[in-house]
Amino acid sequence: MKFRPYGFPILDLSQRDTAFDNHIERRLSSLRNKFSDDEAMREMLASGDPVIYEVYESRRPEVAGELASGLSIVRPGSVGAEYFMTKGHYHSVRDTAEIYYCLQGQGLLLMENEEGDTAVEEFRPGRVIYVTPCWAHRSINTGREELVTFFVYPANAGHDYEAIDATGFRKQIFAQNGVPTIVERASVPKRLQ
Ligand code: PA5
Ligand code: NI
Repeated sequence: MKFRPYGFPILDLSQRDTAFDNHIERRLSSLRNKFSDDEAMREMLASGDPVIYEVYESRRPEVAGELASGLSIVRPGSVGAEYFMTKGHYHSVRDTAEIYYCLQGQGLLLMENEEGDTAVEEFRPGRVIYVTPCWAHRSINTGREELVTFFVYPANAGHDYEAIDATGFRKQIFAQNGVPTIVERASVPKRLQ
């Protein structure tokens, strides 16, 4: 762990493993209850277990005042008509924000809070998304190339996956005639539930 100011590259693929402290790969099998179309999920798993997204983390001590950062890379593709996406989470320390900066690709950041408000912001290169405190967030790749974003959040925030898992995100993003479409979860066709 460094305790003097430092810099690191985020665009050079060949340096990713040395620039970051940790590399996580999330495969389809770890997202079992996330996608709506169970049949499409089964079919995909029968022919392999593809990587859906990767995270490179630049870790810092998990104390107030420090900032954790890293890269999120969501692969292009879909399970049935539902685009590849991250698990999504609240921060365990709810009152903590996060910034995403899109470097490559196209997508959406789906957000919601515990009062029932929802928000969707667009990822495209050069665009920043500010996730205000107390909002759950999930990245969705609606494009044909990797969706690469740089994120920064308070290092003491923690990840709470259970709270959003208990209900599921209220909105989902499906390809309808090739166009990303926001759908209320209750109105997802039966076969997709
Ligand atoms: O903290 C964040 O919001 C990101 O680093 C995410 O962890 C990353 O995009 C992967 O998503 P998730 O943690 O929901 O699997
Ligand atoms: Ni987060």
